[in-house]
Amino acid sequence: MNNMDMRTIVAMVLMFVVLRINGVEGGALQYNFYEKSCPQLEDIVRAGLQPIFLTDPTSPAALLRLMFHDCQVQGCDASILVDPVEADGLSEMTSAKNFGIRKRELISILKSMVEAACPEQVSCADILVLAAREAVARSGGPQIKVPLGRRDSSTAPSYELADTLIPPATTGVDDMLHIFARKGMTIEESVAIMGAHTLGVTHCLNIVNRLYKPEGGEGDQGLMEPRFEAFLRLNCPKGCLAASNASFVLNDPTALMFDNRYYMNAMGGRGVLRIDAEIVLDPRTAQIVEHFAADQDDFFHAFSTAFLKLSASGVLIGDQGVVRNKCNVID
Ligand code: HEM
Ligand SMILES: *[C@@H]1O[C@H](CO)[C@@H](O)[C@H](O)[C@H]1NC(C)=O
Repeated sequence: MNNMDMRTIVAMVLMFVVLRINGVEGGALQYNFYEKSCPQLEDIVRAGLQPIFLTDPTSPAALLRLMFHDCQVQGCDASILVDPVEADGLSEMTSAKNFGIRKRELISILKSMVEAACPEQVSCADILVLAAREAVARSGGPQIKVPLGRRDSSTAPSYELADTLIPPATTGVDDMLHIFARKGMTIEESVAIMGAHTLGVTHCLNIVNRLYKPEGGEGDQGLMEPRFEAFLRLNCPKGCLAASNASFVLNDPTALMFDNRYYMNAMGGRGVLRIDAEIVLDPRTAQIVEHFAADQDDFFHAFSTAFLKLSASGVLIGDQGVVRNKCNVID
C-alpha cells in the first residue's frame, strides 16, 4: 500500500468518526454557519421583528411557543410552518394540540427579507429559532447566542405525530421531566424551560378541566389560591364551549415581560395550567422553583442552556433535509 492510499484511508476513518460524533450529539450546528453565505442574517431578523413586536406586543409569546411545538415534532425542522394541504391529508397544524399556535406567518415575512439579501441560503428552521431567541431578549429575558445550520424538513409530518408528541394541557411533572430529559436537559433546566410560561396567554379551553372538576372525578394535584381560582372562574365561565375557545387568561400578571414572576406565582398558588401549579409541589422540582423565584440571574442562565438544548433537538444538518424556498410550502 503506498502512502497516498494510506492517507486516504486515514482521512476516511477520521471523517467517519467525525460524522458519527456529530450524528450522536446532533452537534454540527455552528455559531459561524452563515459567516460567508449570509453575515447579516441576525441583523435582518432583529430589525424585521422590531416593528412587529411594537405593533403586537403579544407576538414574542407566540414565537417562543411556536419554536417549542416545532422542535417537539420531528425536531426543529420548520415542519410546523407547512400549510395544511387537503389533497395530502392533514399536516401538523391540523392537530388540536396546536390550538392557540399563532404568528406562523411572521417567519415567512422574515424569510422573504432574508431571501432578498441572501437567496437560497438560510433555512426556515434557523429563522424560527432566531425569532424565538429575539422574542426572549426583546421581552427582557437573556440574550442567547444560538448555533445555526439547521435544515428544513422536506415532508410535513402528519397530525398524528403532533397529536402524540405535543404535551396536553393536563401534563404533570412526571411527563414534563421525561420530555425534557429526552432532550438532554437536567431537572434544573427542565424547570427553567417551563419559565417560558412567564409570557403569553392560556385559553379557557385549556383550564376548564382544572376549574370545573367532574363530581367525584379525579382532579389534578395543583394547589390553587382561592382568590385566584375565583378570578379564573370569572374569566372562564362554565359550560360555554365557544367562549372557552375564544377567551383566555394571562399566563402571569407580567405576561409581556420575560421575568421570574412565573415562579413566584407558582409558589403563591397562582399557576394557570396543571404543570404550573404542580412544579412547586413535587419534591424533585420544588426547591428549584423557589431558587428561581429568588434569583432571576440563575433562572436566566439555566433557561439559556435549556433553550440551546431544546432548539438543537433532532435537527437536520449537512445534506439532510432542504432549505425551503418558502416556509409554508414544500416544493
Ligand atoms: C410540559 C410542557 C408544556 C405544556 C404542557 C405546555 C402547555 C401549554 C398550554 C396548554 C398553553 C396554552 C395555549 C393556549 O391556550 O393558547 C401554553 C402556552 C404557552 N407555552 Fe407552553 N407548555 C409546555 C412547555 C412549554 C415550553 C417548553 C415553552 C417554550 C420554550 C412553552 C411556551 C409557551 C408560551 C410562550 C405560551 C403562550 C403562548 C401564547 O401566548 O400564544 N411552553 N403552553
Ligand atoms: C374548540 O377547539 C377545539 C380544539 O381545537 C376544537 O376541537 C373544538 O371544535 C372547538 N370548539 C368550538 C365550539 O369552536
